[in-house]
Amino acid sequence: MRRVVCPGSFDPVTNGHLDIIGRTSRLYDEVVVAVLINIEKRSLFTVDERIEMLQAVTKEYGNIRVEKFHGLLVDFCRQQSIPTIVKGLRAVSDFDYELQMAQLNYRMSGVETLFMSTNPEYSFLSSSRLKEIARYGGDVSGLVPDLVHDLLVERLRG
Ligand code: PNS
Repeated sequence: MRRVVCPGSFDPVTNGHLDIIGRTSRLYDEVVVAVLINIEKRSLFTVDERIEMLQAVTKEYGNIRVEKFHGLLVDFCRQQSIPTIVKGLRAVSDFDYELQMAQLNYRMSGVETLFMSTNPEYSFLSSSRLKEIARYGGDVSGLVPDLVHDLLVERLRG
């Protein structure tokens, strides 16, 4: 079984994330989408809400499992017998941070990180920018799945 992890905060999942998850699902038998539980960072959606959204929007791929984790990603990989991490790279600005994390993760555990280039259609997209635009009434349709769009608008309006 070739298994891989796509980790992240996913607050909320965007079409950019979904593009990476979907393309990864065609290369591996099982993709574990791992949602970080980060008590230090204020999030818009709870971890369980993020998991529900991810499950709904990845259902059609057929080989995605959504889990939560806290602590080190490499410990989660060891527990789940996952040898490989897949990360999307949007631009050179992502590279320094991602390279350091990939090297540290390899050094700690031997877990490999593979980088997938983001679809240029979404290379400018991040969950934090998305929330900022939506918060001030900007149109984010087309950047997130419809289900996420409706929950996002509802949450920010409420
Ligand atoms: O979507 P994000 O917030 O960019 O995801 C970052 C994430 C979850 C992949 C990263 O913060 C992570 O792996 N955190 C777990 C803690 C960890 O393993 N830190 C050591 C990295 S060298």
